[in-house]
Amino acid sequence: MQQWNTSLYDKQHSFVFEYGKDVIALLRPQAGGRILDLGCGTAHLTKQIASGGAFVVGLDASHDMIQDAQRLYPELKFVEASAAMFTLQEIDEKEPFDAVFSNATLHWIPDAEGVISSVHAALKSGGRFVAEFGGKGNVALIRKAAREALFEILGQDIPDKFYFPSPAEYATLLERHGFRVEAMWHFDRPTPLEGTDGAANWLRMFGGAVFVGIAPDVREQATVRAQELLCSTVLHSNGSWTADYVRLRLVARKVA
Ligand code: BEZ
Repeated sequence: MQQWNTSLYDKQHSFVFEYGKDVIALLRPQAGGRILDLGCGTAHLTKQIASGGAFVVGLDASHDMIQDAQRLYPELKFVEASAAMFTLQEIDEKEPFDAVFSNATLHWIPDAEGVISSVHAALKSGGRFVAEFGGKGNVALIRKAAREALFEILGQDIPDKFYFPSPAEYATLLERHGFRVEAMWHFDRPTPLEGTDGAANWLRMFGGAVFVGIAPDVREQATVRAQELLCSTVLHSNGSWTADYVRLRLVARKVA
């Protein structure tokens, strides 16, 4: 499982929750509504959703993230659980939710059917699932460079373990599990990275699914080499780095 450096995540990669504010606008949280934030991380968006008067539960599989979130926002409820197999009972909630919100989490979880059926069971009838995560083609150049670097070092082709579905794939799963897809967007969102080592730092922070089972020294070697390979691509211009993010954003309603 991906291990998180929560303070580096907040300092150098705050764009994760800055961009998430657009997804909150789509959620339109109502005062008194019950909302589950799936993959809440350090909970800045959970707090923002709650600030309008909704009751929000933040759920994350990372113990460190939940500890930080609870320390930062002691007035909110957080639970450590898996997005792919949680139940209302496990998170100690008696009533289903009006909405499940998720930002920049679901690409870490290959068990999409587990996620969708857990979300379905946690929603009341007519409840909404509002989410954004990496879609098909996400960070394709960064992943390609890392794969090439690993091949150079180990002589093995090691595909990454991210889950970046197409709209058609994900809509099919949602429909199969009792959702009506009200809206879905698949779009490029070039994302500036901080610093002269922006690409390497991205891989250090988020490379967990790229370097599964790779020894730390090889991982660092591949990270440095991947950044070298990326220097000659469109991601590097005038000394600045941009990541080739592609988003999948959706609103789906529980209808069955
Ligand atoms: C994303 O938000 O698309 C993302 C973040 C980290 C790793 C992979 C994808």
